[in-house]
Amino acid sequence: MTRTIRTAPASLKSKIMSADAAASLIHNGATLGMSGFTGSGYPKAVPLALAAQIETEHAAGNPFQVKVWSGASTGPELDGALAKANGIDFRMPYNSDPVAREKINAGEMNYCDMHLSQVAPMAWQGFLGDLDTAVVEISGFTPEGDLIPSSSVGNNKTWLERAQNIILEVNSWQSDALNGMHDIYYGTALPPNRLPIPLVKPDDRIGQTHFKVDPRKIIAIVETDTPDRNAPFAKPDSTAKAIAGHLLEFLKHEVNLGRMPAALLPLQSGVGNVTNAVLAGLLDSPFENMTSFTEVIQDGMLDLLDAGKLRMASATAFSLSPEAALRFNADAHRYRDKLILRPQEISNHPELVRRLGCIAMNGMIEADIYGNVNSTHVMGSRMQNGIGGSGDFARNAYVSIFVTPSTAKGGKISAIVPMASHVDHIAQDVQVIVTEQGLADLRGLAPKQRAMKIIENCSHPDYRDALRDYYQRAQHSSFGKHAPHALPEALSWHQRYIETGSMK
Ligand code: COA
Repeated sequence: MTRTIRTAPASLKSKIMSADAAASLIHNGATLGMSGFTGSGYPKAVPLALAAQIETEHAAGNPFQVKVWSGASTGPELDGALAKANGIDFRMPYNSDPVAREKINAGEMNYCDMHLSQVAPMAWQGFLGDLDTAVVEISGFTPEGDLIPSSSVGNNKTWLERAQNIILEVNSWQSDALNGMHDIYYGTALPPNRLPIPLVKPDDRIGQTHFKVDPRKIIAIVETDTPDRNAPFAKPDSTAKAIAGHLLEFLKHEVNLGRMPAALLPLQSGVGNVTNAVLAGLLDSPFENMTSFTEVIQDGMLDLLDAGKLRMASATAFSLSPEAALRFNADAHRYRDKLILRPQEISNHPELVRRLGCIAMNGMIEADIYGNVNSTHVMGSRMQNGIGGSGDFARNAYVSIFVTPSTAKGGKISAIVPMASHVDHIAQDVQVIVTEQGLADLRGLAPKQRAMKIIENCSHPDYRDALRDYYQRAQHSSFGKHAPHALPEALSWHQRYIETGSMK
């Protein structure tokens, strides 16, 4: 493996500068392609300096806002600082920063929530407009001057190729064992020249370990030594453990029936505490030699690798707690042959997900009695995070599973509702729903059969009678009897919560 060099090669030494100097090269109205995915590998110094610069301009009465594209969520130094400075005019494709979330929901920030696999192709198709500057964290340079990616790959390959200018942050906090862990595929093209992606197993390497870059586009290099955001995961509580238990029973059943191999199929695990708890549950499962073809590597994946249960994991980024990040960094060489980080257009590629036959496990906000799932909009209008990669995986998975506690906000909200207040995943893309109450296997069922299973198996007892009552009445009053609904009562549960603070 080539050496990791933490500073710029001699030919680029003149580009090393402070974050303030680099930020001053960004102009009002610029479109920025930022690195970063689920709080890892995002630039940490230049966006902070840019936010300070924007605040100064605003104080002087001058307009200053930028458009921010990324891989997925970043960190407080990027989305948080820029949003606080009222510096973001447009943001895509995913956000979990609380300050940015408030701006989005106050109607002060344009937010375009996109399937994560589609961002790079759309950038190439030209729909998103021109990209002025890529601001990309790397973990170092190779002796040849190629870029060694950081703890996420996201859309960086595309940003580095599409941007007119490039600002690099070289973060020496990142482990040098990242060098060699990445697989950057340069074979994508637009139709009619698109070719099959030659990946047939999650373990396959089909690209190169480093990013190519045109050195003439590099306008600044900033040296940093700063940790990723690395938010802690909640310790699995009894609810999360019950959800994991139901799911593991289901998987064992599928193996016993010969519908899945004993090592399962490549696992995809979405973001959130519950999905991390499911991974923890797999530690005590009978499954061995598992693989993962997923979007992010959470703590639970490292535990499964350590325990020898998981053979390898393919993803686009880490999403670790601070403790797990330290553990990884201290011992990263051990994981190098077991982890592959790819561009998100490959890690989430619908055709690969379908062909590999992934088991998709994603969190959700709510599901309705027919199995339509809302992953994004609380009460139908308030953006939580975004669809992320859940759509990339759910539609194409071998089996598409959604998990949630049966209630939210201390029991004041039922996660199973008559009608979803927003739909991200249509019933056809939702095959299994799991709450701590139980599991509904919806495969091959008609809407009315699905409703019975979801209400009886997944809803919380505090809401079950009301759901039964709604469903009975809907069958009498509904315009059509295929998927009966009592309109406009269907959304009255949400309205009740908005007005009284409880769905009860
Ligand atoms: N109604 C209102 N609010 C709800 C709710 C519901 N039915 N269900 C959850 N919430 C709220 C929670 O109260 C919590 O709010 P808080 O932050 O104010 O405490 C918030 O939503 C997150 O819920 P939590 O229980 O912590 O769930 P989570 O960490 O498992 O995340 C999603 C759940 C849906 C937000 C998360 O899975 C997500 O963003 N999914 C979309 C993206 C995705 O799936 N990516 C993975 C693809 S690889």
